[in-house]
Amino acid sequence: MTNAEIAALTDEYVMKTYGRLPLAFVRGEGCRLWDADGKAYLDILAGISVVGTGHCHPRVVEAICRQAGSLMHTSNLFQIEPQARLAELLCQNSCAEKVFFANSGAEANEAAIKLARKWAGQHKPEQARGIVTALHSFHGRTLATVTATGQEKYNKPFAPLPPGFGYVPYNDLDALSAAVDDRVCAVMLEPIIAEGGILVPDEAYLAGVRELCDQRHVLLILDEVQTGLGRTGKLFGYQHWGIEPDVFTLAKALGGGFPIGACLARGDAATALEPGNHASTFGGNHLACAAAEAALRVILEDDLAGNAAIMGQRLRDGLLAMRAEAPLVSGVRGRGLLLGLELSAPKATEVEAGCRERGLIVNKLADDLLRLAPPLVLTADEADEGLGILRETLLAV
Ligand SMILES: Cc1ncc(COP(=O)(O)O)c(C=O)c1O
Repeated sequence: MTNAEIAALTDEYVMKTYGRLPLAFVRGEGCRLWDADGKAYLDILAGISVVGTGHCHPRVVEAICRQAGSLMHTSNLFQIEPQARLAELLCQNSCAEKVFFANSGAEANEAAIKLARKWAGQHKPEQARGIVTALHSFHGRTLATVTATGQEKYNKPFAPLPPGFGYVPYNDLDALSAAVDDRVCAVMLEPIIAEGGILVPDEAYLAGVRELCDQRHVLLILDEVQTGLGRTGKLFGYQHWGIEPDVFTLAKALGGGFPIGACLARGDAATALEPGNHASTFGGNHLACAAAEAALRVILEDDLAGNAAIMGQRLRDGLLAMRAEAPLVSGVRGRGLLLGLELSAPKATEVEAGCRERGLIVNKLADDLLRLAPPLVLTADEADEGLGILRETLLAV
């Protein structure tokens, strides 16, 4: 089928919950994608920060094929070796002591919210069940996580929303201090706000949040769904700020392209959920965990976090150097390979489309902001190729 034929079929039969482009990719390898009409692209989006190990990494493909040929799913009524091994690997490489496996970022956050309320039942007075999140945050699309999301455009149409969520401006410790009263049991934040505009907090913010949570005896939940697993130049976003959350969540890059999410916890938060409290039929099944173990080993063994730091700096330097000749470039924000290219005019749609015509996939996050989030296996040559196409496009728009 051609791009147009696939788009027409989708249009007829798939619910219109997405504003899709009439473009269907049919093959991927590393940072390259090919569409149904045979055109090749350099991918600077990675399926929205998902394929950190690149498209179809041979070790991930091999693990999926091997596991699919022996056993895919038996349910959590039984022991699952790949799940136990993945949990061990995650805990050995993070501050976590225990893991719950889900199938997506929203589900991982849903688990974190339930965990916090359950923990509060064991450690806090009855009125303390509230969760404070940030304005401009994004935590998912289930009813609880879309309510945790501090953006009315996502949750207002679905009122009545679950109670017990409050919002504060991000990067404002005084506002957080005022909000964390005796009705609150947890603070939930992204270490870098991703979907909401690639917003990096001030150096002291997250250490201040940690201190406040300790003083008020509330849990600090970090949503690392987008920042985790090397994307920001460290394995986990929290490592930039020298703090440890009580609970953090992962998804996106965890399965190397295969759906899997995780809620990880330490201390008394790690044992708050008890048998019967939470579950998922598919969560942590053999196939998803085999894919994730392979992806995580690639991320660790090939130091993809280190590569993200180096390539992120290369992209940042290259973009900032364009400012002299391309006044549309006004700045760059983000960390590692989670970058926001700030434009001086609301032309992100035109730049995104111009790049696509030239064979480069980037993503408009706002009218004046583009997201650059390539696979973490990006090479220097690929970074320079992407910069070249961006430069040509920025000069043409
Ligand atoms: C920080 C963050 N949390 C949660 C989610 C939701 O993840 P999912 O779409 O896998 O449910 C996203 C998705 O973009 C995200 O960026």
